Amino acid sequence: MGKVIVVTSGKGGVGKTTSTAALGAALAQRGDKVVVVDFDVGLRNLDLVMGAERRVVYDLVNVIQGDAKLPQALIRDKRVESLFLLPASQTRDKDNLTPEGVERVIGELKEHFDWIICDSPAGIERGATLAMRHADIAVVVTNPEVSSVRDSDRIIGLLDSKTVKAESGERMEKHLLLTRYDAVRAERGDMLKVDDVLEILSIPLLGIIPESMDVLKASNIGAPVTVADSRSAPALAYFDAARRLAGEILPITVPGDKRSGGLLSKIFSRRAA
Ligand SMILES: Nc1ncnc2c1ncn2[C@@H]1O[C@H](COP(=O)(O)OP(=O)(O)OP(=O)(O)O)[C@@H](O)[C@H]1O
Ligand SMILES: [Mg+2]
Repeated sequence: MGKVIVVTSGKGGVGKTTSTAALGAALAQRGDKVVVVDFDVGLRNLDLVMGAERRVVYDLVNVIQGDAKLPQALIRDKRVESLFLLPASQTRDKDNLTPEGVERVIGELKEHFDWIICDSPAGIERGATLAMRHADIAVVVTNPEVSSVRDSDRIIGLLDSKTVKAESGERMEKHLLLTRYDAVRAERGDMLKVDDVLEILSIPLLGIIPESMDVLKASNIGAPVTVADSRSAPALAYFDAARRLAGEILPITVPGDKRSGGLLSKIFSRRAA
């Protein structure tokens, strides 16, 4: 049975869709069978980032409403063989996403894929709560700034109360993905420090993705950054994050943090102290 991941944030524009595509591709590039599911009904972003917008015929709502079977709606990535997209509808109403329909589709996807990665819309309304509903693991995407951290904190509250896992008394596995991290701005004090974010949210760190033009370039050519430029700094950070999701334990370094040798050495030195 596949594992369901929700990529969520509360605040908009923090890098959820970018991260869904990159983590999904990174897991598929390891050979796992992955489907990325776009829950952002009405905006349809994930297909653009994946470069599949012209190949969309049927979408999640079509499958939920029974207008199409799941295999008709799934789009196989042209570059990574084991990567698939279940797109969102651009035109339909959010109300077409029914809880029963979502449950059925997720259940069906779990039988066929190792990972089901759900790209959540921003906010805390219906689309976002439906995207997280069946998750085993949550990736909470946060930028190192106060409003983003505050909204992530609200989302963590929802993950611990409104999901199937929470309702059945199980622990929801939650990870923090710090994105758009700018070492220069952090040094100047224009951004929250990694330690501060970790202290406020107190969930384990999955990775730190640097602010980088490579993300924009990848999006412009319609490819996840791990596919567009697999040696770029954000791609390497996403590859490591994907390995951690798959259970590996790897050291985490703060981009640009040369003095201390990275966050993990800080954590270790603190432990040793
Ligand atoms: N590491 C990064 N470096 C530079 N730009 C980035 C990075 N991550 C994301 N971006 C840019 O930030 C913008 C928002 O990213 P994205 O669409 O992934 O966010 P989102 O959380 O899905 O937004 P929404 O809430 O609207 O769905 C995009 O233009 C994207 O290219
Ligand atoms: Mg998005």
